[in-house]
Amino acid sequence: MSDKALAAQLKREVERRRTFGIISHPDAGKTTLTEKLLLFGGAIHMAGSIKAKKAARHATSDWMTIEKERGISVTSSVMKFEYDGYEVNLLDTPGHQDFSEDTYRVLTAVDSALMVIDSVKGVETQTKKLMDVCRMRDTPIMTFINKLDRDGRTPFELLDDIEQSLSIECAPMTWPIGMGKLFQGVFDLRNNLIRFFDAQGGKSTRPKEAVVVKGIDDPTLDEHLGAQAAAELRTEIELLEGAGYPFDEKRYLSGEQTPVFFGSAVNNFGVRELLEAFLRHAPAPMPRKAETREVSPLEEQFSGVVFKIQANMDPAHRDRIAFLRVCSGRFNRGMKARHQRTGKDMLLHNAIIFMAQDRAGVEEAWPGDIIGIPNHGALRIGDTLCGKEPLRFLGIPHFAPENFRRVVLKNPFKAKQLDKGLSQLTEEGAIQLFRPASGRDLVLGAVGVLQFDVIAARLAAEYDVDVLLEPMGIAAVRWIDSDDKDAFARLEREYASSMVTDADGHPAMTFASEWRLEKAVEDWPQVRFLTAREV
Ligand code: G4P
Repeated sequence: MSDKALAAQLKREVERRRTFGIISHPDAGKTTLTEKLLLFGGAIHMAGSIKAKKAARHATSDWMTIEKERGISVTSSVMKFEYDGYEVNLLDTPGHQDFSEDTYRVLTAVDSALMVIDSVKGVETQTKKLMDVCRMRDTPIMTFINKLDRDGRTPFELLDDIEQSLSIECAPMTWPIGMGKLFQGVFDLRNNLIRFFDAQGGKSTRPKEAVVVKGIDDPTLDEHLGAQAAAELRTEIELLEGAGYPFDEKRYLSGEQTPVFFGSAVNNFGVRELLEAFLRHAPAPMPRKAETREVSPLEEQFSGVVFKIQANMDPAHRDRIAFLRVCSGRFNRGMKARHQRTGKDMLLHNAIIFMAQDRAGVEEAWPGDIIGIPNHGALRIGDTLCGKEPLRFLGIPHFAPENFRRVVLKNPFKAKQLDKGLSQLTEEGAIQLFRPASGRDLVLGAVGVLQFDVIAARLAAEYDVDVLLEPMGIAAVRWIDSDDKDAFARLEREYASSMVTDADGHPAMTFASEWRLEKAVEDWPQVRFLTAREV
């Protein structure tokens, strides 16, 4: 292919790609929404397929299930589908008990996110955490307020909740007409359309097709909705015009505003409109910062960054799959790429691409796509693969863990194996390890507690080491850094017993309570206490 033809194809492929994740608190409806999106995309053919996997995952959390689940989650953690000429990559951000650092890192590989909010519950804790991560990179976010078929909070309360709790402007794109039993549908504010709700399986006599009205004052509104509902809708929209924000694509793209849609995922109501607006407004693959410069997806030189490792899919082979997001250029099967960290070339002949229910060998991939590269430990989280020009992508962070365990070795003669196991699992990003400056107990840190079960089980199965992971009196850890060498040395002296280093040798400090952490931040203004550290 000539350079010109490649450049043209690259541009086309980039423009039609959308790579995103769904963020939500457990039970808000992420799985249901995912399934509806995949049905639209023709990536699955039967409602219930994704739910069945989820049910299997939550049945028990013993090791066998975790192990079995890995087989499933690799295939379902990236879902690719086509819709209306777009190539969509939906990255799963595990919620629930398996909430972990993976969840955070996946968000570094997307260009935008969909946020699902339960209309009964409003903004919940996990949503807040995930939103904080999105904010680190100003990720654009579209919002779907779900479960309008239930009696929830009023739309005004919900918008206010989002604006207050998440500090983001809301721009409603649709407006609900009633809710719960009285839910009639939504008014499409930009196109002056009424879309009627029809509970799936219900015997509604409503027209399935949306009707166009001449604005909110159109008298036919009364015929369609009934006089009272029409009057209420008019009052609400009048209020909204005074108080709400109109949609502004620029503000959405810079992460300052979220367009809001109302609907009911389980009834497949409002999902198509959400998908279509999403494809139209959400960003195509964006440039990405490397150490030396910003890399545009349109550059012909191939590059990509590893954001997740799934290890030991097959315990007999100790294989790992590195999930790589293509950042620029075209990927071809069998191509060579430079492994930036080691400086060696890697032959990429057996990379795989993930489909909703399957995975397949990949012949070709473009910026925004996620490919899986089987390897035996050569690739780590944060690694860059690139062409001749050495590049190192930034922005795959370690997040300060929130849960801590002391490692107790059952058989002291296995210290060497333990060391090896822990260092490999740490490299893989499965857990974080902190070594105390004084004292011998190794400290494991995790964002989600399920990570500990996985680590203990994997140490036993893969390294033949039995450990106990005991709770300990640590409430928080922060990486520490300061330009004031004297102050830093004083802090280290005064809190010698709280000083630790992470697996890469970076200094950090542990705290017995949130209060102590706050106090340290207050007392030591010369020192930075960091919640995230770039890999
Ligand atoms: P999650 O992935 O965010 O955890 O949520 P999930 O989709 O599993 O949905 C959580 C529950 O909410 C499910 O009920 C689901 O059916 C229900 N749900 C999703 N969308 C809607 C909606 O628009 N309206 C109503 N009323 N419910 C909705 P469940 O009882 O946990 O499971 P199921 O047995 O009903 O599938």
